[in-house]
Amino acid sequence: MTIVSPSILSADFTKLGADCQMVLDAGAQMLHYDVMDGHFVPNISFGVPVLKSLHKGMPAAFYDVHLMISHPLAYAEPFAKAGATLQNFHLECEDDIQATIDAIKAQGCKVGLTIKPGTAPEALSPYLDQLDLVLVMSVEPGFGGQKFMPSALEKLRWLREERAKRNAHFLLEVDGGVDDTTAPLCVEAGADILVAGSAVFGAADPAAAVRRLAAL
Ligand code: DX5
Ligand code: ZN
Repeated sequence: MTIVSPSILSADFTKLGADCQMVLDAGAQMLHYDVMDGHFVPNISFGVPVLKSLHKGMPAAFYDVHLMISHPLAYAEPFAKAGATLQNFHLECEDDIQATIDAIKAQGCKVGLTIKPGTAPEALSPYLDQLDLVLVMSVEPGFGGQKFMPSALEKLRWLREERAKRNAHFLLEVDGGVDDTTAPLCVEAGADILVAGSAVFGAADPAAAVRRLAAL
């Protein structure tokens, strides 16, 4: 069984709570919450208030918050207070990485680091022992519905090997263009968690799409 974290960026925002509940009922173990600031990526999505509202309605869900923002350090506390379970920020951000890891942990959240397609996984080396999760982007961050980049697979394999060598405990997550065709490749390469937006919420039967991915 694989952990599925549906990206609610592709949900219908007029019924966001119902869409989230539907994928949770189908067996999704996390909700992937994509925060974009219009600076780190050329798009703007949603932020602290929407998370707060979701958390109020569904307090038991695991909120896998993907911060595609230039300055995650200043938001560690607001996102923790809003209900983030895990805060996933980018190695390419403009803040001090160690200070941001420390701030997120100090807020009682789990912490993840994310790399864009152009970043080598070796760059994560100084931090790997402190992380709960590593997210490998398989598209350029900013938009749902893009095509999977197979270069992510080699990174997943390297990170899986590195985790074993160090006896580290981070989970491996992959995000971007994950669907019924690419998901098995990701799992085979070491992904523990599959993020899927359009492949879930764009499907005729989103619950069935979650169940298929979770069965991998
Ligand atoms: C992209 C986001 C992804 C995106 C995935 O910047 O980080 O989480 O919503 O969408 P799909 O699965 O449609 O590629
Ligand atoms: Zn994401």
